[in-house]
Amino acid sequence: MGKTYKIAVVGGDGTGPEVAVEALKVLDVAAGKFGFSLDKADFDFGGERYMRTGETLTESGIEDLRAHDAILLGAIGHPDVQPGILEKGILLKARFALDQYINLRPVKLYPGVETPIKGKGPEDICFTVVRENTEGIYTGTGGQMKRGTPDEVAIQTSVNTRKGVERCLRFAFDYARREHAKSPWKGLTDKDREAGQTSQLTLVGKTNVLTYAFGLWDRAFHEVGGADYADVKRDYAHVDATCMWFVKNPEWFDVIVTDNIFGDIITDLGAMIQGGMGIAAGGNINPDPGGVSMFEPIGGSAPKYTGQGVINPLAAICAGGMMLENLGEREAADAIEDAVKWVTGEKLKSLGAGRMGFSTAEVGDLVAGRLA
Ligand code: IPM
Ligand code: MN
Repeated sequence: MGKTYKIAVVGGDGTGPEVAVEALKVLDVAAGKFGFSLDKADFDFGGERYMRTGETLTESGIEDLRAHDAILLGAIGHPDVQPGILEKGILLKARFALDQYINLRPVKLYPGVETPIKGKGPEDICFTVVRENTEGIYTGTGGQMKRGTPDEVAIQTSVNTRKGVERCLRFAFDYARREHAKSPWKGLTDKDREAGQTSQLTLVGKTNVLTYAFGLWDRAFHEVGGADYADVKRDYAHVDATCMWFVKNPEWFDVIVTDNIFGDIITDLGAMIQGGMGIAAGGNINPDPGGVSMFEPIGGSAPKYTGQGVINPLAAICAGGMMLENLGEREAADAIEDAVKWVTGEKLKSLGAGRMGFSTAEVGDLVAGRLA
């Protein structure tokens, strides 16, 4: 008998619960096929609970989550709750409290999926963003003075620690190395290959303006990379130029590493070039021994589609696949990805909500059926 994994399920708001159900449907099929089992527990953190009780993610809730092997999250964000309360009180709180210092966001164009980038296909749009997830401008460091007056002052500071930056960089270097252990990244030149390089890691920053923050990132990048990752080619791009290259030459990227806010921004652009929020998944990962990681579709709660059965569950299903990979069930994770590719390639008309040609549940059935 295989392992049993304890999974905390936070359906959350809007369409979150609907897509989480489909992800669980697929995960259960994967468990049966690959010989492990999932022991699931539901948690009701989200807008409804907040409006009823005033609670976001409680301290005891954090302890409960900590007792699981992984967390599957639907979406957080409710139209009747002031912006920021749930995002900071649940999503960011979980990321920080569980020290999920990596936000891993693959940008892969799957077969049959339409990209707005003319002339580019799955072999061009295939990279991963490693976003630092616990520091930067997200720490809430700063303050306000004379709020609401003409003399108002607002300061919000980016916090970058050598430890926090270095652990993120090391994850990114390891990830680049691991992903290309068997098949080297194809953008390498002959010279790179002769030097024994098999992958590329691009640091995305703003070293020409944010000289303190990205000065630290840049120094750590070359120190760590030079000392321990000679097989990973080091590249750098400013964040503004990165947005340009995502559109013009996405094939230049292999693995990207960047800070919290830049990672937030460029991964929305990344989601668009891979076909939209319907397919974009991410993992909030604590890679340390015993770390509890949280996997989510990155698209949000889509309130206007709630309860209609039209939202695309593939991003949540892919998030479930990422969760299995993180738990060490790589074969099952690969099989889910293959099934998703078959569904996008052979079945769906579009990835857009209401335009798939199938309902939310039917898309889940298609993936589950193929996987079985
Ligand atoms: C994301 C989201 C969050 C973020 C918000 C909801 C706080 O945009 O996961 O990318 O900025 O990290
Ligand atoms: Mn975002």
